[in-house]
Amino acid sequence: MSDETKVVETSEAQIAVHWKEEELYHPSEEFIAQANLTDKSIFERFSLDNFPDYYTEFADLLTWYKKWDEVLDTSDAPSFKWFKGGKLNASYNCIDRHLDKNKNKTAIHFVAEPEGERVSHITYQELYVRVNEFAALLRDTAKLKRGDRVTIHMPMSAELPITMLACARIGVIHSVVFGGFSASACADRVVDSNSRVLITMDSYYRAGNLLDHKAVDDEACQLAKDAGQEVDTLLVWQRYPGKMSSPSALVEGRDVVVNDELKKYYGARVEPEEMLAEEGLFMMYTSGTTGKPKGCLHGTGGYLSYVTAMSKYIQDIHPEDVYWCMADIGWITGHSFIVYGPLALCASSVIYEGVPTYPDAGRSWRIAQELDVNIFHTAPTAIRALRKVGPDEPAKYNYKFKHMTTVGEPIEPEVWKWYYNVVGQGQAAIVDTYWQTETGGFLCSTVPGMQPMKPGSAGPGVPGIHPVVFDEEGAVLEPGCGKAGNICIANPWPGMMMTVWGDRERFVESYFGMYNKNRESKDWRDWPYMTGDAAVLAEDGYVRVLGRIDDVINVSGHRLGTKEIESAALTVPEVAEAAVVPVNHEIKGKEPELYVSLKPGYESSPELQQKVADAITFQIGKIAKCKNVWIVPDMPKTRSGKLMRRVLGAISNNGDVGNVMTLANPEIVEEIQKMVQG
Ligand code: WTA
Repeated sequence: MSDETKVVETSEAQIAVHWKEEELYHPSEEFIAQANLTDKSIFERFSLDNFPDYYTEFADLLTWYKKWDEVLDTSDAPSFKWFKGGKLNASYNCIDRHLDKNKNKTAIHFVAEPEGERVSHITYQELYVRVNEFAALLRDTAKLKRGDRVTIHMPMSAELPITMLACARIGVIHSVVFGGFSASACADRVVDSNSRVLITMDSYYRAGNLLDHKAVDDEACQLAKDAGQEVDTLLVWQRYPGKMSSPSALVEGRDVVVNDELKKYYGARVEPEEMLAEEGLFMMYTSGTTGKPKGCLHGTGGYLSYVTAMSKYIQDIHPEDVYWCMADIGWITGHSFIVYGPLALCASSVIYEGVPTYPDAGRSWRIAQELDVNIFHTAPTAIRALRKVGPDEPAKYNYKFKHMTTVGEPIEPEVWKWYYNVVGQGQAAIVDTYWQTETGGFLCSTVPGMQPMKPGSAGPGVPGIHPVVFDEEGAVLEPGCGKAGNICIANPWPGMMMTVWGDRERFVESYFGMYNKNRESKDWRDWPYMTGDAAVLAEDGYVRVLGRIDDVINVSGHRLGTKEIESAALTVPEVAEAAVVPVNHEIKGKEPELYVSLKPGYESSPELQQKVADAITFQIGKIAKCKNVWIVPDMPKTRSGKLMRRVLGAISNNGDVGNVMTLANPEIVEEIQKMVQG
């Protein structure tokens, strides 16, 4: 870890903009009376004395073909194997097992962005039929088999979970790439996962426009091929079945229109593969400290047990609930808490195609009213946006939430209170769930029926998770000591990723390198999991997350690696050096701002600024769009030549740059300040 990113600096900077501990809010009697988890003995049962056996309570929520031989196998630590030897299938658990009693119940409500389009309500029976037919297509047309990887680059649609569940049914490991990612980002993931099949949709609606999505994947196929991974089959779903909504031509021999091809599989039924608990279910790429995103591999038995339990106990999902999580399925929140968790519990899960504030500030609340949504799950960035455009809008609609979630970044207490009082009408229990792509499910949150809420604090570890905060030297920072440190989890848990795809070394070093003393150890106690976040533990054990300690920027609750953005800038031939810093933003939380210096002989110009900006959109996607691209004469550097991002960050945020006299080039700081601050 570089000097600039040490926790001490992160915490000082962050604490300055953070808040004091807030007062507690208690869940209503009405909520408690119906809550899934109110039995206080859970904390006793889930104490480390009973580790790892307590997690069998989670596994017992699933239907197994064969029960496990061993709860936790640590022989390949820190690639822990949960419920080893057990056999199950995720698609069976999310669909088939519900058919007897609930085949007629809605599994998915798909809400199209255009309000004139009817909502489609897909029952568990229909989901069963469509997943089976598509699984047959994957097997016979696309020639996929157990253990293969497939990249899915699809927008929010009912077809996305159908695709994922069909993969799970035949044991194919899916890698869903966020639909808004560029061709280049998609191609990188195709290459890293060695996918020979890419699955896409021709088009989708976003803020009123029908976007040509297939064109993006045509380009992705080309880029992947250039990098040595040929996509021999591009499966194209149609946004409007029966007609192509993309002007991009089909490529002979490669492209298959799914909706036409499916006719061959009418009535097909595919026996679910009996997967070992420790076999991969999916991978999901996420940003880390270096340029290349990491493919986090999640297993079948541990992951599914964990997200099912979290959905039941923390999301408080009952089968009769209508549950709406606004996240995109292209991120981990959508995987765990739109698809796998809710469907394993036989809930009705809402999928919305478009922008929550389109065409106006009331859209989200109209969806809630129409579908009678009673559990609502979103991120602070969306809450801030909804509050900004329509602070009084929720009161105009007739809906009632019993439970609401916030996830993805710290929520400001003021925003939390609006969420609680206005959106939740002071009646809904709120959980602030703190977790990561790598963790599969929640790390910290209150148990909604038992523990009071504290605005701005995620809450204690969820039952079974034992958080600990370490300082740089590995000494424990006790709850209430007021100091921030690196938040770690003392024990493994079933939702935890199994490895980084193709890079075990990176898995071990990124998450365990700092606090593991013995790489050979097979004892789980020697492997505390390091989240990469700075946090303070209050006296009551509630965790306040301050932000990342590594080079990751959280934009609208989505992780972007600074190195990813910088590498994109460096693809422009004129650029010599690039540095990205996070800038505070009212809605997005943080926004990247980019500094570049040029190679000798080049002049700064607006065209060059635009060229750099375009390179970032091309390489990553609009999500990484920088607030500004500043072309500076030189970067502030230490005498040893290290680029001082901290100084640039202070300039971008109008903060104090501190003492810069020890830099190799202190004069440059003032020059950049003038440029940026005017
Ligand atoms: C941040 C999203 C504060 C944190 C589920 C973490 C949060 C990163 C919270 C993971 C929260 C997530 N409060 N910060 N409730 N939830 N974070 O992998 O920095 O997209 O490490 O997973 O988001 O982002 P990821």
